[in-house]
Amino acid sequence: MRITAVAPANIAFIKYWGRRDAKLRIPYNPSISMNLSDCTTTTTVEFSDALSTTKVTLQREFGGFVDKETERVIQQLDRICQKAGIQKKAEVVTSNSFPKSSGIASSASGFAALTVAAAAALGLKLSEKELTELARLGSGSACRSIPDGFVKWDGEFAYSLYPHDYWDLRDIVVIVGSTGKDVSSSDGHDTVETSPLFKKRLADLPRRIQRLETALQEKNFKVFGETLEEDCLDMHHVMQTQSPPLYYWNAETVKIMEFIKKRTVPAYFTIDAGPNVHVICEGKDEEKITKLFKNKNIIVNRPAKGAHLV
Ligand code: DP6
Repeated sequence: MRITAVAPANIAFIKYWGRRDAKLRIPYNPSISMNLSDCTTTTTVEFSDALSTTKVTLQREFGGFVDKETERVIQQLDRICQKAGIQKKAEVVTSNSFPKSSGIASSASGFAALTVAAAAALGLKLSEKELTELARLGSGSACRSIPDGFVKWDGEFAYSLYPHDYWDLRDIVVIVGSTGKDVSSSDGHDTVETSPLFKKRLADLPRRIQRLETALQEKNFKVFGETLEEDCLDMHHVMQTQSPPLYYWNAETVKIMEFIKKRTVPAYFTIDAGPNVHVICEGKDEEKITKLFKNKNIIVNRPAKGAHLV
């Protein structure tokens, strides 16, 4: 049967950086994110006895799938087949609505859509929790793209803290580069312990997570924004002091960060493993903020549902 699933990318307010167990993708710390309405991956999977190899195609693409990525997709399909007790090859066709490998989590939406589509194509009846555990094995952040809205990933699985219509926030992604990155986040996780700042990050995180969760509960945008910005900078300080050091920003990234930091508009920034800046604001300020970036390529995201079949 041919099955299609759509999954959102997500933006982490508390970041996942570093894995206690690399193979099982168990993170050192809990992370908290929001699903993105306008950065999605659509994936169609069809298993067939007639195929001798699995075929993976990425449509509407900015760069193409490299062998290593195709291999990761095949490994994930193998895991799902193993769970179903079936040995079959598949044809996978996938397309992104946004540039790949540039700090908008394409591995998150990609592995969430793949997992949901492939599990359904094999007739597996899995709970949301089980789907998050399975997606996590393909890409850690993918487990956060399965539950609804605002999501927490703690240890082995992820769950929704609040549905997508809980708080009318925006993530305005300002695209300042879409050429892919030299070091993938997957490789970056592996050397996190080489940063002298990593232990301090782990020690600070419980209080920061508590602060963010309380701000989310109270919809206190100021504290929420200050906390997510603090966590972004903290993660990048770790990245930049790893060996080898990882710099994901470019000159344009820094310019936007400096501008947002002036607080002339009610917005905060966060950045993942790429140069693009996620400007977080409340829905009521969307127009004010988008006007500032009218000469730039932007994607305006609202909070969104998790991965689902179409
Ligand atoms: C910087 O989920 O891409 O975006 O588990 O190896 O696939 P793998 O890593 P990945 O790491 C994402 C790291 C981040 C922060 C975050 O999204 O929490």
